[in-house]
Amino acid sequence: MDGELSFKYDNVMEETLGTFGISVNELEYFKNESSKTIEILKEKEINGNLGFLDVLTDNLDRYHELKEHSQNFENMLIIGIGGSNLGLRATEAGILGNFSSRYEIPRIFYMDNSDPEKTHDILSNIDLEKTLVFVISKSGNTVETLANFFIIRNLMKKKNIDLGKHVVSITSGGELKKITEKENYIHFEVPENVGGRFSVLSSVGIAPLSCTSVDIEKLIEGAKSMEKACKKEDVFKNPALINAVIHKIMYNRGKTVSVMMPYIERLRSFGMWYGQLWAESLGKKGFGQTPVIAVGATSQHSQLQLYMDGPKDKIATFLKVNKYKNDLKIEYEYEHHLSGHNLSEIIGSELVGTENSMTHNNVPNVKISLSKLNEITMGKLFLMYEMQTAISGELYGINAFDQPAVEYGKKIAHECLTGSNVNSENKSLTGKYTITSK
Ligand code: PA5
Repeated sequence: MDGELSFKYDNVMEETLGTFGISVNELEYFKNESSKTIEILKEKEINGNLGFLDVLTDNLDRYHELKEHSQNFENMLIIGIGGSNLGLRATEAGILGNFSSRYEIPRIFYMDNSDPEKTHDILSNIDLEKTLVFVISKSGNTVETLANFFIIRNLMKKKNIDLGKHVVSITSGGELKKITEKENYIHFEVPENVGGRFSVLSSVGIAPLSCTSVDIEKLIEGAKSMEKACKKEDVFKNPALINAVIHKIMYNRGKTVSVMMPYIERLRSFGMWYGQLWAESLGKKGFGQTPVIAVGATSQHSQLQLYMDGPKDKIATFLKVNKYKNDLKIEYEYEHHLSGHNLSEIIGSELVGTENSMTHNNVPNVKISLSKLNEITMGKLFLMYEMQTAISGELYGINAFDQPAVEYGKKIAHECLTGSNVNSENKSLTGKYTITSK
């Protein structure tokens, strides 16, 4: 079937990994704890605390209207950072391909940093008169996003561009909401109960995606079907639950690094999305597994030595597709073992090689296989990992939905800009121990 996702966890089990593996008894032991966890999450959902599930029942009509409107533009400029960028980007690359945004209309540009060179380079490549600007910030106050938007807004005003038609604002408050109302931008609300890194299937991802050829209905359909699976109380039937349990058991055994390794370039950005979700949601109170993003087969030539032979602190997740959109045959007139094979066979055998050698070296690994990478399977992947993260929060006794430590850095940056940093203990800013090469 075209929308199938399967989760294989043989290579963390005792039968395969021996004493390094998990026994069925251990998973059985988690059965009680995990069914309680699902009950707690269902209760949280009823109390309105799992907004990332609520958005799956949103009415999509307004997005179709936006799509109509977007036909008037050649470019989409997306201004947003973190959760207001990564999910959208992962979907765009995942469905449309890594290069579509460069050559196809609408061309999509991301301003996700306050790096002046990047903003300048994008501006040199687009005509703002032909550009639909999406400014995305749940808080409406994020410095990088506001800074870029103010620059763009100013340039548009100088060109007498109608901001009410050219700006789509996706926010729930702050300065952005104020200016949105004052200047009458097209506006989509970000629900209060949807955290940034859980927002890909809300207006944050869906509004811009609706203006591309991504089928948003199918994306949501995939997520909904995964929601059902991820609410099952039986740990052996619920992929998000069992993967959360596996990662917790392995974390307790010193696997403090989680390597996400897709064997398809289109999922490279999904890895970045996962990196934020896993790190920012669970890295708290001294806990947390560090996400590392690799891409097969490329990273085999840069990282694999460490994974196999370095510290035994890793658990890996492979993502594979059973069928690539396109394939190419290798033809070579001399005798060579590659001749006659397709590229998909090459990357497929490299995955088999890595999976086996990791297992052989006692590095636990799981594998998610997709029949194809399309909207349905992408929706499933997002939902599975959102649920897995929410479940893990419960298993660790951590609030997966806040990010208190990120706020401290933001506070200092704000104080630097406003010149009010006299009261902060800026321990890292002294520069007493510095070596300069002139
Ligand atoms: O997950 C989060 O909450 C963060 O990564 C935010 O998405 C990020 O800081 C951007 O915030 P905002 O959407 O408010 O601009």
